[in-house]
Amino acid sequence: MFDAIVAGGNALIQGASRGIGLEFARQCLAEPRIGHVVATCRSPQDATGLADLAAGHPGRMTVLPLDSTDEASIIAAAAAAARIAPRLHLVVNCAGVLHDAARGMKPEKRLADVRPESLARAFAVNAIGPLLVARHFEPLLAHPQRAVFASLSARVGSIEDNRLGGWYAYRASKAAQNMYTRTLAVEWARSRRNVICVALHPGTTDTDLSRPFQANVPAGKLFGVDYAVAQMLGVIDRLQSADSGQFFAWDGERIPW
Ligand SMILES: NC(=O)c1ccc[n+]([C@@H]2O[C@H](COP(=O)([O-])OP(=O)(O)OC[C@H]3O[C@@H](n4cnc5c(N)ncnc54)[C@H](OP(=O)(O)O)[C@@H]3O)[C@@H](O)[C@H]2O)c1
Repeated sequence: MFDAIVAGGNALIQGASRGIGLEFARQCLAEPRIGHVVATCRSPQDATGLADLAAGHPGRMTVLPLDSTDEASIIAAAAAAARIAPRLHLVVNCAGVLHDAARGMKPEKRLADVRPESLARAFAVNAIGPLLVARHFEPLLAHPQRAVFASLSARVGSIEDNRLGGWYAYRASKAAQNMYTRTLAVEWARSRRNVICVALHPGTTDTDLSRPFQANVPAGKLFGVDYAVAQMLGVIDRLQSADSGQFFAWDGERIPW
């Protein structure tokens, strides 16, 4: 694993307080080829899992505040990260939202469930957030070594794959995120040729995000975070420049847009 990542390379895990992001931070720290791990989350003071990880790896991880809907916090985190890890070799955007009881947000079953507030929130976190992370962390990717910029998307964001309907906000925000990923890959193929920019689908994974819907998941199809992240790190490791601008599932299968 990590053969393609330059020895001593640095990783940024955005949205690392829990779920898949926390596991990305854990597995990056377990990999000796990774130099420093910058983990960001909305409320570091509440992120006990990250605090435990940092305590177990003194000097190898920094936790920074970053709310992906607050551009000022992204700018501040990028400035702080630049002082700690001026070159990044892996960026993984994990922050995402499907439901949020505090905001009355739940996946829509039908048109009558659509709420503008939920649409806007899904777009802010799932689509605009990763693009603003690219915008403000780009200087840390401006180096000659291989780097991967990956955003956690979801198969339900594939327009071609949409046969079930529903989940208007989540589906459309992930489709928008996919378009941003593709557009960024086109630009970086010209201006940042060292960076491979992809969307990743983790498979249905046992986290707070999927928990209300796990009853519908066929037996054996619900991944633990450890398996999903190990699979995605394998995909990341095998990426070639020609793969930039594509959408990959956990098993390396290309998903249609
Ligand atoms: N689990 C699955 O089955 C599945 C399937 C397909 C795709 N995905 C995608 O995988 C990614 C990770 O999902 P997960 O399953 O790990 O979900 P999760 O356990 O619900 O975690 C979501 C993460 O996003 C963070 N977050 C939410 N809003 C944020 C914001 N405004 N700024 C910064 N961080 C924010 C949360 O931080 P707080 O702790 O501060 O709330 C949390 O760390 C998401 O993009 C999701 O769409 C997951």
